[in-house]
Amino acid sequence: MSNDRTIPFSPPRVDEFTIEAVTSVLRSGWITTGPQTMQFEQGLSDYLGGIPVVALNSWTNACELVLRWFGVGEGDEVIIPSYTYAATANIVVHCGATPVMVDCAPGTCHMDVDAMASAITERTKVVMPVDVGGWPVDYDLFRERVTDASGLFRPKKGTPQEQLKRILFLSDAAHSFGASYKGQPVGAQADVTGYSFHAVKNLTTAEGGALAFNLPDPFDNAALTKYFKMLSLHGQSKDALSKIQGASWRYDVVEAGYKCNMTDLQAAIGNVELARYGETLERRKAICEQYAAGFNEEGFSIPPLRSELRESSYHLFQLRLEALNERQRDEVIAKMREEEIATNVHFQPLPMLTFYKNRGYRLEDHPNAAAFYANEISLPVWYGMTDEQVRRVIDTLKRIIAGMS
Ligand SMILES: Cc1ncc(COP(=O)(O)O)c(C=O)c1O
Repeated sequence: MSNDRTIPFSPPRVDEFTIEAVTSVLRSGWITTGPQTMQFEQGLSDYLGGIPVVALNSWTNACELVLRWFGVGEGDEVIIPSYTYAATANIVVHCGATPVMVDCAPGTCHMDVDAMASAITERTKVVMPVDVGGWPVDYDLFRERVTDASGLFRPKKGTPQEQLKRILFLSDAAHSFGASYKGQPVGAQADVTGYSFHAVKNLTTAEGGALAFNLPDPFDNAALTKYFKMLSLHGQSKDALSKIQGASWRYDVVEAGYKCNMTDLQAAIGNVELARYGETLERRKAICEQYAAGFNEEGFSIPPLRSELRESSYHLFQLRLEALNERQRDEVIAKMREEEIATNVHFQPLPMLTFYKNRGYRLEDHPNAAAFYANEISLPVWYGMTDEQVRRVIDTLKRIIAGMS
């Protein structure tokens, strides 16, 4: 039950502007992919400084499309971190390829770049680091290591692998839209960057995702967005809107495409969110900074938020309770719930999950991920959260921990 005392984990920013935007799409008579989606794609691209963007119905389908387009299939390997959400690995499995899981760098929840480089083989087709919590990985280092391994790359005939001539650098930026690396928005570093606009994300469209294309010559990134749009709509040469608007109803199907387009109802939410995203980020930053100051003492380890190179998107505040073990951390979560404060854990390393365990992945091979997971607790962060609520989270958590020792 929720009441005034309840502090939820990450409710979406929905207000009269959102309701009005969605209602006006409903009234317009056009609710699937159309003008709102085009406006959202243009807005995202402008936000990223002009990088071409296509908006789709989730990160998962968007990035799976990238793997399929690149020709990833049976016998291929895709390097991912073990510390991520299952979607990162699942899409590799969907394509019939093998996810090669790499541990975190010690003391962090981000893929270790040296371990990633050692995991590259002749079968590696894609490297996909994850900006967990909204903190960008060291993109230049990853790119350097991926490029260094070009000699090992064996392109599959008849696929874009022949043009790229090296491993594809795909960023799982599901958490990091709005983060920056060396002064550039996340999206300007990897070959392709995938964002999520799921309901709990900083910027939501209820469900949704987008791809930013930043491939080198000879790729035409703007043309790729059009191609992916076509792929997302059954491989049909015309979308529904152009079919009814154009002179001819006639269309063709040029590929056995998929069905993962974004609707105008979703994009309408995204357009409202994007217009005020600066304000959203500012508030999230202030909340995270209040937490960082409040937990700046022995027994707590606070997540990186800002450095000379990077700035987070402030998606998660991943606190570590240094003196506690996994069972005690779970007890803290249960006690916080009794106090009507929702918290979370990001993530259970993938080798802990039945499907991947059954495939032979072992947590013992990922000691840094296991250690990070055991005492991690993600605290509530959302636009409308007040300073008083943040204070209550800090005080309650400290009180609970003090009572346990
Ligand atoms: C790291 C990571 N990657 C991918 C996804 C999948 O995103 P979506 O739900 O938009 O498919 C998520 C979702 O939470 C995620 O946390």
